[in-house]
Amino acid sequence: MDTSGVMALVLAAGKGTRMKSAVTKVMHNMSGKPLLGHVLTTLETLPFTKIGIVVGHGRQQVESYLAQGEEAWLSSGVCEVVVQEEQWGTGHAVQQALPLIPPGCTVMVVSGDQPLLTPETLGGLLAVHKSEVAAATVLTAHMEDPSGLGRIVRDKDSDVSAITRIVEEKDADDFVRGIKEINTGTYCFDGDALRQALAHIRPDNAQKEYYLTDVFGYLSERDMLVAGYKMRDAQEAMGINDHCQLAAAEEFFYDRIRRRWMKEGVKMVCPGSILIDADVRLEADVTLLPNTWLRGNTSIKKGSVIGPQTSMMSCQCGESCVVSYSVAEEAVIGEGCLVGPFSRLRKGCVLEARAHIGNFVEIKNTVFGCESKANHLTYIGDAEVGEHVNVGAGTITCNYDGTNKHKTVIGDRAFIGSNANLVAPVSVGPGAVIGAGSTVTRDVPEGALAVERADQKVFSNWETRK
Ligand code: UD1
Ligand code: CA
Repeated sequence: MDTSGVMALVLAAGKGTRMKSAVTKVMHNMSGKPLLGHVLTTLETLPFTKIGIVVGHGRQQVESYLAQGEEAWLSSGVCEVVVQEEQWGTGHAVQQALPLIPPGCTVMVVSGDQPLLTPETLGGLLAVHKSEVAAATVLTAHMEDPSGLGRIVRDKDSDVSAITRIVEEKDADDFVRGIKEINTGTYCFDGDALRQALAHIRPDNAQKEYYLTDVFGYLSERDMLVAGYKMRDAQEAMGINDHCQLAAAEEFFYDRIRRRWMKEGVKMVCPGSILIDADVRLEADVTLLPNTWLRGNTSIKKGSVIGPQTSMMSCQCGESCVVSYSVAEEAVIGEGCLVGPFSRLRKGCVLEARAHIGNFVEIKNTVFGCESKANHLTYIGDAEVGEHVNVGAGTITCNYDGTNKHKTVIGDRAFIGSNANLVAPVSVGPGAVIGAGSTVTRDVPEGALAVERADQKVFSNWETRK
């Protein structure tokens, strides 16, 4: 696809009143990233020379996402912000961006609240625009219930004839309201024709706004071609205006993601119960079991079985792991590890190859060595655990003194008996053994046995003496 001299404009200044939220509309999250992030991710796959983003309402939220965020869109040099101080309509929004558009440029305009449009559809729109040598090309769709949307009025009653104008529902008569071909709000323009037409639009309509859609009537009246590109799947053009539409779009999007991964060789049991966020990466022969949610930028390598009932936020999981009924966040799980059921891996955990983390074990900010095990009822925080270590049931690293966090170091092959308290800062040398029930407050040297508990007293014949 030749997109030289093609730029994109994203309209994202509107308030989104119907979300009834302090969060501005395009910043609402869908499948792990803001609506605007989805639109930019799609645009990024097409070689636009520039992407202008028109911001206004809630612009601090939008700008800080664009500047920082996971992707830092503004740092690429392709994206640029345009401010629309007051939101006087879609036409007014594009007027603010005119200084960004060089002469002779083709401009694609998309809305920041339509996260489901695909690169294929946008590429198709651009291809039609070029092949028709049109002044403007509108992405249209057929909708059984077109209420609320702009209607496409064509020269003759045919999908291929030129578009003469677009009429907003609020300004439509009964005939126009009966039209089921709608304006998706996505267009390609010859930049020069757009500039010329925008100079002539007026806010004399039901909403007292500068409509971008008035540009098409202007062009058509001057015998400049307005072409249409009708998309097959109207759902893809769904715009988000309230939480019902957001939920519907999110469901549609999760379904799309699942299908994509299943086609890539991922096995899913009861796929409808599995959620995979947009930036998750999976390999073939990963198995996902019911009620599993893979979030953020989690990645999972081949042969691993995740779930049921497991949530992973931005984790990296190696090959052939089993993670069941567990919650993990920003953890790195090495190849062949067993996690769960009912484990919690918190931020900063690194499990090395073939480690076992069992039921009711919580681990935080810890490197846990190769083939080491903590199989039951344990808390390990701020620790460094070597290889082939056995951590007995009920072991606690007492890492917090009420003010500061301290470190526990456990050497290779150490054996921590059940119900031990390791009061940090403390270290247990390689091969050392800690007797069950001990509270360890001083370092234990390599190969030593440390036992800290009162002698056992035995009173014989207690039952008969009572
Ligand atoms: C618009 C179209 C309508 C189309 C529909 C598809 C117009 C006049 N109408 O209507 O034909 O069927 O989209 O969803 O264009 N925005 C700004 N600044 C503004 C106003 C809006 O940036 O001053 C942005 C919004 O943030 C949004 C987009 O433009 O991303 C569309 O605006 P919206 O108010 O939702 O337009 P609709 O009434 O839905
Ligand atoms: Ca809209």
